[in-house]
Amino acid sequence: MLRTVAGSGTAAEIAPAARLEGELVLPGDKSISHRALMFALLADGESRIRDAGDGADVRSTAAIARALGARVERESGEAGNVNYTVTATGGAGLRRPSGVLDCGNSGTSLRLFAGIVASHPIEAILDGDASLRQRPMARVIEPLTAMGARVEGARDGRPPLVVAGHRRLQPIDWQTPVPSAQVKSAILLAALAATGTTTLRESVATRDHTERMLRARGVPIRATSADDGGAVVQVDGPAAVAAADERVPGDPSAAAFWLVAGAIHADADLVVRRVGMNPTRRAAVDFLSLMGAVIDERPIGEGSAAGEGEPVADLRVRSSDLRAIQLMPADTARAIDEIPILCLAATQARGRTVIRGAGELRHKESDRIDGIVTGLSALGARISVDGDDLVIDGPTPLRGSVVDSRNDHRLALTFAIAALVAEGTTSVLDASSVAISFPTFFADLERIRS
Ligand code: S3P
Repeated sequence: MLRTVAGSGTAAEIAPAARLEGELVLPGDKSISHRALMFALLADGESRIRDAGDGADVRSTAAIARALGARVERESGEAGNVNYTVTATGGAGLRRPSGVLDCGNSGTSLRLFAGIVASHPIEAILDGDASLRQRPMARVIEPLTAMGARVEGARDGRPPLVVAGHRRLQPIDWQTPVPSAQVKSAILLAALAATGTTTLRESVATRDHTERMLRARGVPIRATSADDGGAVVQVDGPAAVAAADERVPGDPSAAAFWLVAGAIHADADLVVRRVGMNPTRRAAVDFLSLMGAVIDERPIGEGSAAGEGEPVADLRVRSSDLRAIQLMPADTARAIDEIPILCLAATQARGRTVIRGAGELRHKESDRIDGIVTGLSALGARISVDGDDLVIDGPTPLRGSVVDSRNDHRLALTFAIAALVAEGTTSVLDASSVAISFPTFFADLERIRS
């Protein structure tokens, strides 16, 4: 299905599917995999991580954990996932890295490691690929600087970042300017080396894996949700991180691609196993259900061996008759990684879908607003932008075409799913970027399609 194209990396040629049927096991949740490796680095002793995702982003984090002093052993796990054993002496400090810490395409690696380096007496340079070098970092530079670390970016506060930290940071009371779990997590990690209580306020409660996982590792951390949907998180420092084992649930952001495939295809019956159903990550499932997607959810207990863990469910999706939905900015923030694939669902839904307040998508691995509008329009969708809102009219029959994923994994995955319901063959340019979060995607697709 993949072929190399001069000048545009690897293209995927995808024909429409006659039927979609079968069971899928997902890559381990990317957000949790990153954090499990990072927190293992900060601990003393051995942490075993089962079913971590093996996408390029998580590999970047594993390599950086090694560069900062952890012994990281990996062995193949189920369904293309990885089991890690991490042995560290993080309580005694981190090793000063000998070279640049290369975060590749991964914003989570760069922002969270900025918080980790800021709270240790070392200096490090955090850098990444051309996409990551375009992404805004003032949102972590400002709070970490206010806490007493030295953090300098290049032009406009973009990577590379030079971070010089120490063990006696100041606690801060900080309202994040945009809802961001990465920024929240960077501050909470730095707060482990601050004397006193750091308070973090967010206008929309973002994914809370850092809070759950640090609490499970003995860190005194409290979270309260506000009536308006926001949240306040407090951590008392200085605090140590204990070693812990983790079983990583399937990535709900990866699951969303199969859920939409099943819902929009006329002859589909798919079961997706062990999907993480953390309340801060399940928005796409809830929005698709509101749109009329036939999704059966079978909870299968807690996915994590550490502490309170994460809820997990098997999801079954069948061909559905979708209707349009209106998302308000807080809804959009809660489904931020799933907006591209929800746009595809909306092209097949009856009526006008409006996704409000999607401006943050301009600062992801690519400008996802422009990428999704250009790509879906090329396939015949009726989609436009009004300020920060996306407007999609449906249902519209899609027709195969050449679409450019701009080396952005979530765009490549969205266009590959669109190809399954389009008439004729679709060519997705730069499709190898799926390996950032979903390395088994094309092999999985071959198994369930006919
Ligand atoms: C992530 C947070 C989100 C999300 C990203 C992963 C995390 O980014 O888009 O894919 O693991 O904390 P922002 O914090 O920039 O919203």
